[in-house]
Amino acid sequence: MINSVIDRRKENVLRSPKRGGSCRDDSIQYLQELGVQITEKRQAIQFTNNVNECVHRWAPYVQGFSASFVQSVFKRYGQEYSAPIILDPFAGCGTVPVQAKIAGYKSFGVELNPLLQYIADVKLNSWSVRPSHLLKVYHDLRTDVLAIEPRFLKSERHFTPKVLTNLKRIKGGIDSFHPKTEEQTRIKKLLNVAFASILIDSSKLKRTPCLGYWKAKTVDDNAPFVLFDKRVLEMAEDINILQSKYNDSLSVRSEVVCANSTTYEYRDKYDLVITSPPYMNGLDYVMNYKIEMAWLGFITSHREAKAIKDDMVVCDNVSKGLIKEFCKLHYYNNTWLDEIIATISRNIRARQAYRREDMPLIVSKYFDDMNKVIEKVSKALTTGGRFILVVGDSLIADTYVPTDLILAKMGTEHGLDIENIELARNRRSGQVRDYLLRETVVTLRK
Ligand SMILES: C[S@@+](CC[C@H](N)C(=O)[O-])C[C@H]1O[C@@H](n2cnc3c(N)ncnc32)[C@H](O)[C@@H]1O
Repeated sequence: MINSVIDRRKENVLRSPKRGGSCRDDSIQYLQELGVQITEKRQAIQFTNNVNECVHRWAPYVQGFSASFVQSVFKRYGQEYSAPIILDPFAGCGTVPVQAKIAGYKSFGVELNPLLQYIADVKLNSWSVRPSHLLKVYHDLRTDVLAIEPRFLKSERHFTPKVLTNLKRIKGGIDSFHPKTEEQTRIKKLLNVAFASILIDSSKLKRTPCLGYWKAKTVDDNAPFVLFDKRVLEMAEDINILQSKYNDSLSVRSEVVCANSTTYEYRDKYDLVITSPPYMNGLDYVMNYKIEMAWLGFITSHREAKAIKDDMVVCDNVSKGLIKEFCKLHYYNNTWLDEIIATISRNIRARQAYRREDMPLIVSKYFDDMNKVIEKVSKALTTGGRFILVVGDSLIADTYVPTDLILAKMGTEHGLDIENIELARNRRSGQVRDYLLRETVVTLRK
């Protein structure tokens, strides 16, 4: 039975009318209606470039922005505002606010995953910790106390026994350090971030970008200590650089709060909103980080993880129950979306085998969630302010979904103008590999 479903799915992909197709052709009608063109401006917007960059390297986050992209936006538009105030409603691990602080701009971010918000906060607000104090606490950490691993996870499958014991020794040492000053509290948080950042490298897993086992991976018993040492030394080195090179930025106000950007009410106004929302049918930002979230105590059960995930802008492994509930609600629609959703429904029925039969509703919920965010952010923009979204499109059940253009149209419905849409890079569809997708930078203006 299972095999026949899989075979049918493979057959559907082989027979797809979209094979060899491209988002370029399938976007023509939408672009004509919007009266805009997509211009080419190739740029590196992915986090991979950050792994060696000051502060950003403290926590490798595959879904993050490249620091240089954020910097290029500041260079391009920063001068048009006097001391621009920056917002990122999907702040992740804080690339935008960190770059804003380096540039001396005030910033604010919203992020729903408590682990990522914690990392962003540590990257933003540890700049005045004295590196020598960080290193002293690190060298004095106890190694004779074993923390208890998260009981609801299969840690014995994630790590070899010796690696697991060494991780428990490091975490036990951090937990046994009881801060007495504000600086020591910051140091403890830095150590927690350093610990979280080594978990996947110490495990039998890898993120590509989804978390999965990697059979060929071998990890040295001592890896946790080696990796942790390297990370803490990098932190001390970077803080040194921040204090000598960016001393003027130390007091610049930068905050990332743990909240839901579909409902968040902004109190301030912002000149530049730079963000990358979750991509439709993209990543699960909770399950992919559940190991780090659990070890740092942000979740103590799968139920808690699910509760956070249910509040996120929807991804395609959302629970069926949540989608059923959504079905009863009034949701955002427009003529493009109505047609796209009807085509997805028709194609899924014709295929007789599709990963998620409720995909049309998932697509609806994605745009409903995004509409709420765009509405709130548009209101929080200053007149003349810009809303810059980096976003990718999708091919779902042989139906092209021009996410960037739909979000741009949504922006116009909330009083923004489309200033430009730039192609940053081409991508390939996960299902029909020879169908060309894109990643664009959409700039809307109030
Ligand atoms: C593409 S990532 C952004 C990465 C970020 N630009 C960076 O450089 O770290 C999207 C982020 O949106 C967050 N997110 C998803 N739904 C959210 C919601 N409703 N409110 C706030 N954040 C949300 C996810 O946890 C994820 O970190």
